[in-house]
Amino acid sequence: MEKTKYPQVEMEIRKWGSKPSSLIQVLHGVQEGVGYLSQNVLKYTAERLNVPLSKVYGVVTFYNFFKTQKDADHIIMICMGTACYVKNGEEVVKAIENYLSIKLGEKTSDGKFSLQIVRCLGACGLAPVISIDGDDVYGKLTPEKAVEVIKRYQ
Ligand code: FES
Repeated sequence: MEKTKYPQVEMEIRKWGSKPSSLIQVLHGVQEGVGYLSQNVLKYTAERLNVPLSKVYGVVTFYNFFKTQKDADHIIMICMGTACYVKNGEEVVKAIENYLSIKLGEKTSDGKFSLQIVRCLGACGLAPVISIDGDDVYGKLTPEKAVEVIKRYQ
């Protein structure tokens, strides 16, 4: 199992460029994928785009479509892009759904986890992958390893 950081941010930077003027597009794209912008994501984005963190906070508070709170304690994003799909991503989905007793798009009754599907996390070489809260990506998963990852966040 391998782990990388902030894949969604890197993916948006590849799309929009690593420059201060890409800030809104990058934040927007990350939120689309992850559902919200964590403090760690904001800090990382500020560093990567060479923008002061105060400016990033300013943008996020000015535009009310940006969300800095998540709907559950942890958002599990399961990649179902082509690379992950062909490497048994579906089995990973089933294992996580069974373990948490929820389906994709749902939230556990204790509010701890929600489950989302994403098209590509930009880490296809590590397929199949999941990301927790958009901060960490875990790759080369088996259904058993995926459940082990979830247990660490309980
Ligand atoms: S298809 Fe899953 S990371 Fe790209």
